[in-house]
Amino acid sequence: MSDITGAPHPLAGKRILICGKGGSGKSTFVALAAGSLLRRSYEVLVLDGDASNPEGLVRLLFGGGVEAEPRPLIDFFGGIDVVTCPVDDPAPLTRVGDTRPVPEYRVDLERELPAEYFLADRRLRLLQAGKIAQYGQGCDGPVEKVVRDFMVQGEAAQLIDTKAGVEHFGRRIPDRVDLLVTVLDLTLESVSIAARVARFCEAAGIDRLFFVVNKVGAPEATALFRDKLGPEGERVIGYVPFDPRVQEASLLGGTVPEGAAAAEIAKIFGRLEEAVGPSR
Ligand SMILES: Nc1ncnc2c1ncn2[C@@H]1O[C@H](COP(=O)(O)OP(=O)(O)OP(=O)(O)O)[C@@H](O)[C@H]1O
Ligand SMILES: [Mg+2]
Repeated sequence: MSDITGAPHPLAGKRILICGKGGSGKSTFVALAAGSLLRRSYEVLVLDGDASNPEGLVRLLFGGGVEAEPRPLIDFFGGIDVVTCPVDDPAPLTRVGDTRPVPEYRVDLERELPAEYFLADRRLRLLQAGKIAQYGQGCDGPVEKVVRDFMVQGEAAQLIDTKAGVEHFGRRIPDRVDLLVTVLDLTLESVSIAARVARFCEAAGIDRLFFVVNKVGAPEATALFRDKLGPEGERVIGYVPFDPRVQEASLLGGTVPEGAAAAEIAKIFGRLEEAVGPSR
């Protein structure tokens, strides 16, 4: 796949799931990755699949001035009382009144999805799977089914941000993704998550699993971390530096600034493109 300039777009139409431990930098990575893909002249769709994080990616991608969040996609499929948990009911997501499951026929974003379901800025679109909004509303399995099955028509590279931890693997959410990126910070918890995610992916037959080490500072700590990762370290495709401006912006409530972290993430996407190959 290429654009009018002839530049190849190996990640066009691909679903890229970003996972990792709490606070490792998944959402920041997604925001900077979106910028990097836009600069490579991709169309980009970001799906916020984290039901717990109230503002999610709105601020990181669009800044603090946005008044309304996108309507949750789960409403498009009949709401939390209609969409089932993928463990209790693995059947694919299907729209109310339709017989064709979404993963097969795929949603036509332009023609089928009302504008209230996304925030857009030129070639970037942000959608939210669903949020926990009410006390006692139940588990977020149905939201994750939307994450698993929301397949769309078109050529957008799709970045899917997830909640912390590995529950998605218990629910088989990665069954319908093309690439999986696990963001690791320099902690033993991330070492343990890396080992578990690698094991899950092996069991599920997912071979496009990549690790990104984030918030990297002193070389000694990075070397120690790499040591702890052991053979799983082979999957690391980039070391993103700790960037004080990124942290500061997250406190001030603005978009994620370009800088050292963004520059490394741009290189990571070059490597992901290589890993996927020149054509779809
Ligand atoms: N490369 C970086 N340099 C400096 N700070 C960073 C970097 N990456 C992330 N952070 C900071 O770390 C904190 C957590 O980042 P973020 O919210 O992206 O993590 P997360 O994994 O999405 O968290 P959650 O599990 O809550 O969804 C934020 O304050 C963010 O600004
Ligand atoms: Mg997050």
